[in-house]
Order: sequence, then structure tokens, then C-alpha cells
Amino acid sequence: MPRKLDLTAIRAEFPILARQVNGHPLVYLDNAASAQKPDAVIDAMANQARTAYANVHRGLHTLANEATEAFEAARETVRAFLNAPSTDNVIFTKGSTEGINLVASALAARIQPGDEIVLSIMEHHSNIVPWHFLRERRGAVLRWVGLTADGSLDMDAMRAAIGPKTKMVAVTHMSNVLGTVTDVAAIAAMAHGVGAQLLADGSQAAVHLSVDVQALGCDWYVFTGHKLYGPTGIGALYGTAEALDRARPYQGGGEMIEIVETDRVTYNTPPHKFEAGTPPILEAVGLGAALRWMGQFDTAEVAAHEHALYTRAREALRGINGLKVHGEAPGKGAVLSFSLEGAHPHDLAQILDRYGVAIRAGHHCAQPLMQYLGVSATARASFALYNTQGEVDAFAEALAKARKMLV
Ligand SMILES: Cc1ncc(COP(=O)(O)O)c(C=O)c1O
Repeated sequence: MPRKLDLTAIRAEFPILARQVNGHPLVYLDNAASAQKPDAVIDAMANQARTAYANVHRGLHTLANEATEAFEAARETVRAFLNAPSTDNVIFTKGSTEGINLVASALAARIQPGDEIVLSIMEHHSNIVPWHFLRERRGAVLRWVGLTADGSLDMDAMRAAIGPKTKMVAVTHMSNVLGTVTDVAAIAAMAHGVGAQLLADGSQAAVHLSVDVQALGCDWYVFTGHKLYGPTGIGALYGTAEALDRARPYQGGGEMIEIVETDRVTYNTPPHKFEAGTPPILEAVGLGAALRWMGQFDTAEVAAHEHALYTRAREALRGINGLKVHGEAPGKGAVLSFSLEGAHPHDLAQILDRYGVAIRAGHHCAQPLMQYLGVSATARASFALYNTQGEVDAFAEALAKARKMLV
């Protein structure tokens, strides 16, 4: 039986949510940037550090074995979370950014000038810049796929962009600005039709959807722990056995080797082949705890709760003169990006902060999308499982006050 979505009990497990900010109760609506951490995560890391900490994999002593067990148990938790076939498919990274850089760097050797990489216009910089590296260094050509009027990915344009020169299609599973959810399975089928690989950026989607990498048919999937109520400095990269076997190691160092001699080196098997150096051990334990904590709840119930928060906020904004919401794709996630004529998003965010309301303003690491939308920045409220309808109302009230001051 999944745990009931009792917001009072849930919020009590997030000590930070009891804070006051500028004399007001904190209303934390910057969850798409990073989510707050429950006691379960904080305690799991602290307990590991207090009772069973040592470096992993190398020791012949009790603490090393216990730390290794906890670290590898976290990998199994990630495997189950993604429905990956084996823990060998799960590489620990320091986050989505490192995962995508790893894939791009592994692909580099196979890129010839003129080979194409297909990206959607709503990608985060971490799913853009590593591909620019291949453009600059290997002569790859980046092909961009736009959106339809409501902010959905233009699937006809995607089909047209993928062709015989495509080597990689890299697409977000959920936009951090628009909330748009993409049809990764359909895009993967298109990519595979021309022998290309598909990388899905699950940084946002993994928080709000149930992810099944085998059903999605992706070659690569990345996510980042700190948005999933876990710690910073940890994330995961899923790769199929075939993709991982073909990929060159990313960084060299301890753990990723089989034999090192003065004139040759051979490599360990995945996942270790891609995990050079001492990994983020406590962070992996924290990520495992976060996924288990989330796993108590029914994903569909959480998504419905977050969607109700989004809808209430969307309704509150309706009818405000000069206010434009960016992204209204059907089935979108609980991310509300907007612009208000005559008010800079940074000013809005600063005034909301005076009322204890934390939202984000800026380009959200998605400058190509900003150019596409014809704005330099947006304001963004993003919702998490611990947010309440009362907080949405506090946000709407603070926004009304900010509007009075600025417009
Ligand atoms: C869609 C998307 N991709 C990638 C990232 C990068 O995640 P990280 O900075 O944790 O590597 C983010 C985080 O803001 C994101 O929202």
C-alpha cells in the first residue's frame, strides 16, 4: 500500500520548510532548480558517515565492505527506479551535466565532419554545450527542432530533422522551462531507424513521471539527485549494454582499470569503466534514501497533486493584464513560466522574496529557448510534492502586490 499524501506529515519531514524568510513562512517554489531534502536523506547520509564510512571497493576490512554494500545497494535502488535490466547499466555521475558530457565525450571518436546531432530548442545548456564541443572539435552539425504553438515538441519537424547523417538525438524528457513532456519512445524509434542513438535528459521528468528506460527504448538516460529530494553531487547515467560497451572511458584513474602497465592499460567492465576515482559515496547513499522515500508514494497521486497546484496557480494568473504563460502543452509537468509586461522577472522574484516566496527568474540555462520565445528571461514557479494550495495562494497574493509596485 503506498503511503498517503498527508501534507502535514510530509512537510514535518522537511525541517527547512518550517523556516521564516523575511518575516514570512517560506513558500518554496523553486523546485525545478533544486528540491528540499527530507530527514530520511539527511539521516541516511549522516548515519553512514557516523557508523560505516570508508572508501568503497578496495578494502578488505569491515567498514570498507559495509560502505561498499551501501553504495552498491544505492545502485540497485537506481536500477529499480529506472527499470534498467542490470546494475551494470547504471553509472553514478555527479549529476545530469556530467552524464551528458560523458556520453558526448564517448561519442566524439565516432564523429566525422558533417555528422549531425539533433536537439530540441528547449534543451538545458547541459544538453547543448557538450554537443557544441563536438561541433567545435569534430565538425559535427547541430540540427534544432522547434515547438508547436502550445510549446509541444514539433514531432513532424523532429522526423524531418533525423536523417542518414544523424549520430545522436538528444532531447529532454521534460522541459525545465515549459514543463513540456516529450514522447521519448517515439523519438527513440525515429533515431534507431537511421542507426542513431537517443539520449533523454530526465533531470525534470524523473522527479514527476515514472520512468522505464526499457519501455522508452533510449540508449542513454540521465538524471540528477538534488532535484529528486536527494543530495547534490550525485546523479546517474543509464546506458544500454551495447552503448556502454561501444563507449570509450570518460575519465582515467583508479577503479576504472583492469591492468595498468608502463606501456599499456586495459579497462574494467561497466559500470566501473566509467567511474574513475573515489565516487561520491555518501551522496549515493543519500540518493538511494531519496528514491526509497519517494517510492513510498504513488507516482500518479503525486503527479495529480502537483498538477492541481499548477492548475490553481495557472488560474490565479488568468486575467492578469499583460501576463503571458510560456508552455501549455497537454500533459505538461508542474512548471509555470511566465512574463509580465512592464516587469523584469528578476524584479518580480526579488519582490516575491520579500514575502517569503521563492521563485526563479532568468534564462533557466535555456538561452536558445529564450531566443525562440522572444524573451530574455522568464519568471518560473515550480511545484513539488510538499507544496500546498495555501502556498499557491500566497504566491498569487505576493505576485499581485509585486505587480502593483512594478507595473
Ligand atoms: C532539464 C535539465 N537538464 C539538465 C539539468 C542539469 O542538472 P545538473 O546541474 O544537476 O547537472 C537541469 C538542472 O537545472 C535541468 O533542469
